[in-house]
Amino acid sequence: EVILGKSGDLRGKKFLITAGPTREPIDPVRFITNHSSGKMGYALAEKAVHRGGEVILISGPTNIKPPLGLSKYIPVETADEMFNAVMEYYPKVDVVIKSAAVADFSPKYFSEEKIKKQNFDMVLELKRNPDILQELGNSKTHQILVGFAAETTDTLKNAQDKLKRKNLDLIVLNDLTAQGAGFGTDTNIVKILYKDGRIEELPKMLKKDLADEILNRIYAFLEQNRK
Ligand code: CTP
Ligand code: CA
Repeated sequence: EVILGKSGDLRGKKFLITAGPTREPIDPVRFITNHSSGKMGYALAEKAVHRGGEVILISGPTNIKPPLGLSKYIPVETADEMFNAVMEYYPKVDVVIKSAAVADFSPKYFSEEKIKKQNFDMVLELKRNPDILQELGNSKTHQILVGFAAETTDTLKNAQDKLKRKNLDLIVLNDLTAQGAGFGTDTNIVKILYKDGRIEELPKMLKKDLADEILNRIYAFLEQNRK
């Protein structure tokens, strides 16, 4: 049994949260992937459950145990699998948080047999994966859409572009050049950008606390939509 957080303010709200990296196979022993521990997405899922939310967690490969009390846990490997799982549940949820680090490309051809090394260099052909969040933005009806952006250059501008292009309500910007931000760490330093142009700078904080801060802002959106 799950003990609800003090407020239980997200009771009955339906969340779809994606976490972790995706993994795109080259052959039976190799793959390409992104850096992502899954910590941020799992923290969001845990806190949303704790506050009474009904949470579907769709996750690429991580080392983290799924939190108790999820309404569904769907492990996936590739961006295509994540895409299909997300699309299946999208119509039924109130909020989507896309904290997964989705691989933008996958090998064009999968080799059933292990590719043997040769005495020369090789070229790996890649194809574009679906942009899941873009699809969600394009077909949005009532959902609150939250994206993440990890940037190394022109961070604000890039995040603003993504917020607009993908039709998001807010985007969490990870500045990868900041100290104590990023992959594998327990802390993050982020800015939150809103569709109305507002920008909030949050101090360095634990991912678990940041999860609550993000959920507070989502709660405000949910309240607004009710009116
Ligand atoms: N995203 C997604 N599907 C993809 C790529 C990204 O759903 N194929 C989502 C991520 O989960 C994240 C947001 O889009 O919430 C931004 O991801 P990011 O990689 O920063 O943006 P891209 O649009 O892929 O642009 P680029 O990697 O070129 O900066
Ligand atoms: Ca990307």
